[in-house]
Amino acid sequence: MIVDVICAGLNNIYTAKDNSFLTILHTLTYNHRFSAPTAPKPLAIVVARNESHVQGTILCAKEHGIQIRIRSGGHDCEGLSYVSDVPFIILDMFPFDSVLVDIVNQSAWVQSGATLGALYYNIAKHTNLHGFPAGVCPNVGAGGHFSGGGYGNLMRKHGLSVDNIIDAKLVDANGRIHDRKSMGEDLFWAIRGGGGASFGVILSWKIRLVPVTPRVTVFRVKRDIENGATDVVNTTNSSNKTVEVTFIGMFLGQTEGLMSLLNHSFPELGLVQSDCNEIPWINSTLYWYNYPIGSPIETLVNAPKGPEQYYFKTMSDYVKMPIPKESLESIWDLMIKVERVRMEWNPYGGKMHEIPPSETPFPHRSGNLFMIEYLTSWGEDGVIANNVYLNISRFFYEYMAPYVSHAPREAFLNYRDVNIGANYPSNETRVEIAQSYGTKYFGGNLERLVYVKSKVDPVTSSDMNRVYHLCSINY
Ligand SMILES: Cc1cc2nc3c(=O)[nH]c(=O)nc-3n(C[C@H](O)[C@H](O)[C@H](O)COP(=O)(O)OP(=O)(O)OC[C@H]3O[C@@H](n4cnc5c(N)ncnc54)[C@H](O)[C@@H]3O)c2cc1C
Ligand SMILES: *[C@@H]1O[C@H](CO)[C@@H](O)[C@H](O)[C@H]1NC(C)=O
Ligand SMILES: *[C@@H]1O[C@H](CO)[C@@H](O)[C@H](O)[C@H]1NC(C)=O
Ligand SMILES: *[C@@H]1O[C@H](CO)[C@@H](O)[C@H](O)[C@H]1NC(C)=O
Ligand SMILES: *[C@@H]1O[C@H](CO)[C@@H](O)[C@H](O)[C@H]1NC(C)=O
Ligand SMILES: *[C@@H]1O[C@H](CO)[C@@H](O)[C@H](O)[C@H]1NC(C)=O
Ligand SMILES: *[C@@H]1O[C@H](CO)[C@@H](O)[C@H](O)[C@H]1NC(C)=O
Ligand SMILES: *[C@@H]1O[C@H](CO)[C@@H](O)[C@H](O)[C@H]1NC(C)=O
Ligand SMILES: *[C@@H]1O[C@H](CO)[C@@H](O)[C@H](O)[C@H]1NC(C)=O
Ligand SMILES: *[C@@H]1O[C@H](CO)[C@@H](O)[C@H](O)[C@H]1NC(C)=O
Repeated sequence: MIVDVICAGLNNIYTAKDNSFLTILHTLTYNHRFSAPTAPKPLAIVVARNESHVQGTILCAKEHGIQIRIRSGGHDCEGLSYVSDVPFIILDMFPFDSVLVDIVNQSAWVQSGATLGALYYNIAKHTNLHGFPAGVCPNVGAGGHFSGGGYGNLMRKHGLSVDNIIDAKLVDANGRIHDRKSMGEDLFWAIRGGGGASFGVILSWKIRLVPVTPRVTVFRVKRDIENGATDVVNTTNSSNKTVEVTFIGMFLGQTEGLMSLLNHSFPELGLVQSDCNEIPWINSTLYWYNYPIGSPIETLVNAPKGPEQYYFKTMSDYVKMPIPKESLESIWDLMIKVERVRMEWNPYGGKMHEIPPSETPFPHRSGNLFMIEYLTSWGEDGVIANNVYLNISRFFYEYMAPYVSHAPREAFLNYRDVNIGANYPSNETRVEIAQSYGTKYFGGNLERLVYVKSKVDPVTSSDMNRVYHLCSINY
């Protein structure tokens, strides 16, 4: 391979002739759709163990016109951190996994390869009075998660991860290392929700820890059609199959406070005291990930990497008007019919409505009632299964169009869906597709992102798709 010749100065390079190549490649390929034998393979994988490896990789790739795919936690929903349709190398950031908590200043430096579980765990080693607003899955990496927004159960109180990032270290397209001050406010703005890989390689983030109560109250209550789920979110059952609705909640306070709030604002749920558990915030991070109460918090750092063969497709929507009850019924009916689609509805409000849409590249703020995440997953291998399930997820997504945002139909970058820019099947040019993506993910912020991109990593006009796609450094 040319790569290990031209990048000979670098250590930690793995190519197809190394026995460990596939092992290293697949350790962090979370979505099995992109780790099949037929999936495109990188020319090489550089495992970054030092900043100089990152710099060297960037310079080497630039010199030789090879694309870099940057990988931290490997949870990209479309595998974009480890596949590409042009020749590429993977820059693996997993060794950059430290979390340094400064409890006096209520901040922490989090390296991009650190997982969310490790972040939460390290905070808890210092204090039970602080937490951080980020996602639910402990194995997601800070590198991709924060640069795509970082959406989780503390957001109504404290916003997204990006709303609590105060500094960052980044290697730019010329191999230079920057902090917030030297990168400037435009670039620092862009990497907080605009997708990191468009702008540089993020080495670490400085975050502001947020206050939590010594104990939080959590509940998970299930309602099905027969138990009045329909009146909480009304439904029908055409067969013996049913739709189950689970309400998962966390309250920064004790049961009494939660009960009295819900008695006023959400009596339909019928929450009772015995549904509630008061646990430390750190334990709640496991509860949200479905571990039973009492699980040791070490699970956050030892959690299994995921099912062996897990193929999935995610999509997202923003809902601005209540969905009529009759429509809910027809949605449940379709869920029963297609079987594989699961939805997560994440309510807005609070801090999410207070932050202006241009504050960060993440534009989906006030005006939204809730965000929907769609998840279709399967375990069967092969092109046929792929097509069947991708068709189901697309079919469901199209069905939901009347109930969600339109012009543009907004979408969340972290639930990346490479089909939203295009008709299906598509015959648009890549530029058209890329422009369409950009508007859905970033709304009015797209223009500023394109401006920053053209400043920090200029591309030629013939390659505008990379500019609008805002997805990988253009080498
Ligand atoms: C099981 C699961 C649960 C999830 N839960 C949530 C959730 O609760 N909330 C939420 O907001 N999202 C969630 N996501 C989405 C997740 O946040 C995004 O997929 C995120 O981008 C993953 O980050 P990563 O570092 O693990 O992924 P990677 O695949 O490593 O990277 C994702 C993207 O970021 C880029 N990137 C990675 N590291 C760097 C870096 N150091 N510098 C520059 N660019 C970089 C990659 O090139 C790629 O484009 C979930 C995804 C999965 C699969
Ligand atoms: C990283 O590389 C630099 C420059 O070669 C060196 O000074 C430093 O000690 C290295 N750091 C680690 C942790 O290896
Ligand atoms: C804490 O913050 C103060 C004020 O910003 C700063 O002077 C000090 O150096 C910080 N302490 C550490 C350990 O970073
Ligand atoms: C759902 O609501 C409709 C009208 O609102 C009602 O006619 C129907 O009986 C309800 N179904 C269930 C299962 O409660
Ligand atoms: C529904 O369940 C009942 C009892 O469990 C069973 O007898 C019946 O065959 C089922 N009907 C269908 C359509 O599956
Ligand atoms: C739905 O199915 C259940 C059995 O699973 C049955 O008990 C119930 O009466 C059905 N409800 C309606 C509205 O058809
Ligand atoms: C909530 O309402 C229930 C039923 O009306 C009542 O038993 C309970 O005391 C109320 N709890 C609070 C905290 O107001
Ligand atoms: C919380 O985590 C601790 C530490 O692992 C564990 O000992 C304890 O049982 C957990 N408590 C609850 C209520 O889950
Ligand atoms: C796609 O899925 C829908 C819903 O299950 C189905 O009606 C349709 O026939 C499928 N189309 C293809 C091409 O498989
Ligand atoms: C492909 O492009 C042509 C011309 O723009 C258009 O008429 C046609 O509908 C498109 N087909 C699809 C599947 O988008």
